[in-house]
Amino acid sequence: MCGIVGYTGYRDVVSVLLKGLTNLEYRGYDSAGIALRDDNRIKVYKSLGKLINLKNEIEEKKHELKHPTSGIGHIRWATHGAPSLVNAHPHTCTCGNLVVVHNGIIENYKELREELIKKGCKFRSETDTETIAHLMADEYSKTKDLEKAVRNSVKRLQGAYAVCVMHKDVPDVIVGARKHAPMLVGAGEGENFIASDTPAIIEYTKKAIYLDDNEIAVITKDNIKITDTDGNILHKKTEILPWEPVALSKLGFKHFMLKEIHEQPDVIRNVLNGKIYDIDGPVILNEVKLDKEILKKLNKIEIIACGTSLHAAMVGKYIIEDFAGISVEVEASSEYIYRKTTTDSSTLVIGVSQSGETADTITAIKQAKEKNAHVLIITNRPDSNMARLADSLIPVNAGIEVSVAATKSYTAQLISFYLLAMHLAEIKETLDKTYLKNLKHELIQLPTKIEEILSNTSGIQECARKFSSYKNFIYIARGINLASAYEGALKLKEISYINATGYPAGELKHGPIAMLDETMPVLSILIPGGISYDKILSNSEEAKARNAKLIALTSSCDKNIDMLFDYVLRIPDISEILSPALTCVPLQLLAYYIAEFLGKDVDQPRNLAKSVTVE
Ligand code: M6R
Repeated sequence: MCGIVGYTGYRDVVSVLLKGLTNLEYRGYDSAGIALRDDNRIKVYKSLGKLINLKNEIEEKKHELKHPTSGIGHIRWATHGAPSLVNAHPHTCTCGNLVVVHNGIIENYKELREELIKKGCKFRSETDTETIAHLMADEYSKTKDLEKAVRNSVKRLQGAYAVCVMHKDVPDVIVGARKHAPMLVGAGEGENFIASDTPAIIEYTKKAIYLDDNEIAVITKDNIKITDTDGNILHKKTEILPWEPVALSKLGFKHFMLKEIHEQPDVIRNVLNGKIYDIDGPVILNEVKLDKEILKKLNKIEIIACGTSLHAAMVGKYIIEDFAGISVEVEASSEYIYRKTTTDSSTLVIGVSQSGETADTITAIKQAKEKNAHVLIITNRPDSNMARLADSLIPVNAGIEVSVAATKSYTAQLISFYLLAMHLAEIKETLDKTYLKNLKHELIQLPTKIEEILSNTSGIQECARKFSSYKNFIYIARGINLASAYEGALKLKEISYINATGYPAGELKHGPIAMLDETMPVLSILIPGGISYDKILSNSEEAKARNAKLIALTSSCDKNIDMLFDYVLRIPDISEILSPALTCVPLQLLAYYIAEFLGKDVDQPRNLAKSVTVE
């Protein structure tokens, strides 16, 4: 949520900042701004809405710039204060000499604001961030030392922040600080960077130093200094970023979402790589650091996650219980953190997150750690905050996901859960060897089956065209595909803004059926041979009897349903237990094409941000 980039060095500062913000735009797009130190002044440029508006604004005013050598930039996802020009970052102190950009929420900003107003500070915006600018300027006026001013100020801030600061009188120095919000320093030759996430700097350097909470970075073009909030120098490890800049290109696809959907076969191959060598041998999951004897006795797992990751967790519950007979609770992180849970040292807590930065899940994980649970994190970002909290870490290796709607990271999470569930089953010896062998065999074939779906999407496109004018949808399923129904409906809501809700098919008659008529399409997910196939068929009949238009998502061998359904989407034949890894693909594509027909902003849907770093 929100994105920060800072740069000092020999390159064209404006281009570096705008490129960095472009690569972070998935984090927020309510407004954008940059501040430059140029001609012994701080110059601020801001625009409302998407980054393109800022680019145009700067293009128009380029003549005002002499030779900026450092700058900070920000894209905003509004929390305090509406999306408006005055609330856009960067924010300055009263005289405009000190400038800040900030991610996070300052919880005690009202008290600080009152105190600073009494001291004569003139506030212009409704943001919590502006308070930081005035507070730091006040501290700077006492010490004339920017680093010290930042140190003294952050000690007074409550809440979460990743903040970058510049001062007119301290040329080409950028100071960054963080607490509960990600920040890293990118190291270059004759240039250095600071950012809230790696895509901002990846085009320029692969060397990064990750800041931890309560750390402060001071960068100049030739130097990086990291200290704690008392000024003690810290010697931090420089890490090499695993990403390639090409990950940030659409590679000819119209949208990142479509590209990422098409990447899923390779993503699955990547996840399986090194885990299943031989279908007769065990799953190799050295990432799980719990002792085998403890795993054998394990009888309770809790999985916490949000959004799409929560849906992956639901599939995880189903298969861990089915394969390994271990009882699993799944809960939205935002619910877990506000109740008395029974988590204890004998619980395995699994946190699932694409970004590894979701604030609710981080808080939930911290609470679980306080209760001495073993914490296993399944994430696409092994460089994230959440990964750093993990006792065991399964990186899902889906590569950078740019589109706000999660697709390939979901599939990668599902495959990781299949591997984990089989691993637990092998340790506990709860599954028949032939069954396990067949499962592995089928798992390895998944990429080819997804390629088959992707090789001909005309049916899905036609279905999307037929149904794009409907205002409401119901998705129904039972058992393991209930999560697929929730996820399919979420995808449609997110990118087309159509009201879509997933229901257990059996629940339809307990209330939702009242909504059914010819204006409400019902999409049923049913896998031939599955335990609840016939029941879902009956539930679909019930919907038909109320004049609802029916769409089926089924597999190729299902020959008897064309009479009942108005439209049939098919996936290659697959066992029900593995089917969520296939059913998600047509559902992603259906949502994509409906949004595309409706002319929606597929990659950056309104009001959303890729990583939700506020609770
Ligand atoms: O990064 P996370 O997986 O923790 O994010 C959780 C949700 O915010 C995320 O899945 C969200 O629902 C996506 N927009 C789904 O497409």
